[in-house]
Amino acid sequence: MKPRVSIEPSILSADFAQLGQQAKEAEDAGVEGIQIDVMDGHFVPNLTFGPGVVKSLRKTVSLFLDAHLMINNPHIFLEDFAHSGANRIIVHQEVCEDLTTVLRSIRKLKVEAGVAVNPETPVTTVESVLDVADCVQVMTVSPGFAGQRFMEDQLSKIQRLRREIDQRHLKTSIVVDGGIDPKTAFLAVRSGATVLVAGSSIYNQTGSVAQNVTDLRKSIAEAAAMINPSAN
Ligand code: DX5
Repeated sequence: MKPRVSIEPSILSADFAQLGQQAKEAEDAGVEGIQIDVMDGHFVPNLTFGPGVVKSLRKTVSLFLDAHLMINNPHIFLEDFAHSGANRIIVHQEVCEDLTTVLRSIRKLKVEAGVAVNPETPVTTVESVLDVADCVQVMTVSPGFAGQRFMEDQLSKIQRLRREIDQRHLKTSIVVDGGIDPKTAFLAVRSGATVLVAGSSIYNQTGSVAQNVTDLRKSIAEAAAMINPSAN
């Protein structure tokens, strides 16, 4: 049974020399998916990986693979990522003139379609596409690097999205990405998040992947109990 809140480790914080092993560790720890942070050095000031890494991970784990395209002109790469085995492709609102067309093109590839909004982008810019988006990803850091501080001023965006999705009886997931740890996970879930992307709180020197995932689960359960006390 799909849990109320899913955890997707971001491989940006993993050891790139052991990416397959680190993905397997996450799978063994019981996470629901992995987020692959694709960066082009233009939309964000960092450069990471492309469809080839998704293709390799597809052969290594059976997890849901979520390709977060922090790139200009994402429409050029949709087929490559879909054919490499991505289960979802998330594009940024800031670089899509015709967001509806891009999201529809992703869905035509039989892949879930998501849109991400940076901290400075109002969530009202994506309210008109909620019915063609499988998820909205609220960035709680400026994209480009792991290990940044969670931006609490983004919580109101999550709350507004939660209200809008519930009022319209949509199934759109709310993904929260950036600075997620047990403390901020609690805040994000209490505000209405249904997927948490976490990098440095899962892949780090202080704890094992399994223990770090367990710590996040505990915090998620506490927040979920607050939202819906009768559910337990
Ligand atoms: C930032 C990425 C995030 C980041 C998460 O551009 O999109 O996924 O890697 O890492 P933490 O959880 O350390 O903020």
